[in-house]
Amino acid sequence: MSIELKSPEDIEQMRISGALAAEQLEMIEAHVVPGTTTGELDRICHEFTVNTQRAIPAPLNYRGFPKSICTSVNHVVCHGIPSDDKILKDGDIINIDVTPIKNGFHGDSSKTFFVGKPSVLAERLVRICQECMYKGIVAVKPGAHTGDIGSAIQEHAEKHRYSVVREYCGHGIGRIFHDEPQILHYGKAGTGISLEPGMTFTIEPMINVGKKEVKLLPDEWTVVTKDHKLTAQWEHTILVTNTGYEILTYRSDDKIAKFS
Ligand code: MF3
Ligand code: CO
Ligand code: CO
Repeated sequence: MSIELKSPEDIEQMRISGALAAEQLEMIEAHVVPGTTTGELDRICHEFTVNTQRAIPAPLNYRGFPKSICTSVNHVVCHGIPSDDKILKDGDIINIDVTPIKNGFHGDSSKTFFVGKPSVLAERLVRICQECMYKGIVAVKPGAHTGDIGSAIQEHAEKHRYSVVREYCGHGIGRIFHDEPQILHYGKAGTGISLEPGMTFTIEPMINVGKKEVKLLPDEWTVVTKDHKLTAQWEHTILVTNTGYEILTYRSDDKIAKFS
């Protein structure tokens, strides 16, 4: 098994695609309000991607996915399908996951937004989940192992009595949407492959208030927590550099340095 190392030219393209993903999440924030629908959020992102960014929304028709973004509300873990019937209400949380393709390269990022005013429980879950992603990111450097990332995430989640979803993981990314290596969000430090400069992959932990088990709905996309308790997710696309990491999908609201 060999993991692709990006050339300097590839990395420049990945920076462009990553910046477009970041820009989409910044753009959509003002539209995440009570009374809107996830179908409307999808239309806004689709139009922005295609007409403003001149990019391609990777999710659309990917393995049959019918929309341009994923919208995962409350107990939906990931891969929620936008719908005009899904009206957001005050206190909901929603993960919006975007993946533009520009010049053949993918940028993959997601953020969990608050709709109106969150409960104390929701605010804590969303914050700890973002911290879990950051703990994973700061573990990234040449010579570190993929298991160091998973172990850091799992430790932080379980310290706060949350559970880590096992069925979905981070992934290598570039010209291919979901490539090797798999980046598990749990595991043991020192295990897995060794990281090298030029690798690009996502870190995208899904963290549950209740038990770790999930189930797939009959639409064959929507993943929900088995116990229907709240879940959150955050995702960045990361480059391994000579000195550590670079966050390719970095936004102005991030609470970590863009590079190490
Ligand atoms: N963006 C998701 C990820 O982080 C994948 C979505 S696949 C889709 O890997 F088909 F549901 F869009
Ligand atoms: Co991803
Ligand atoms: Co994603």
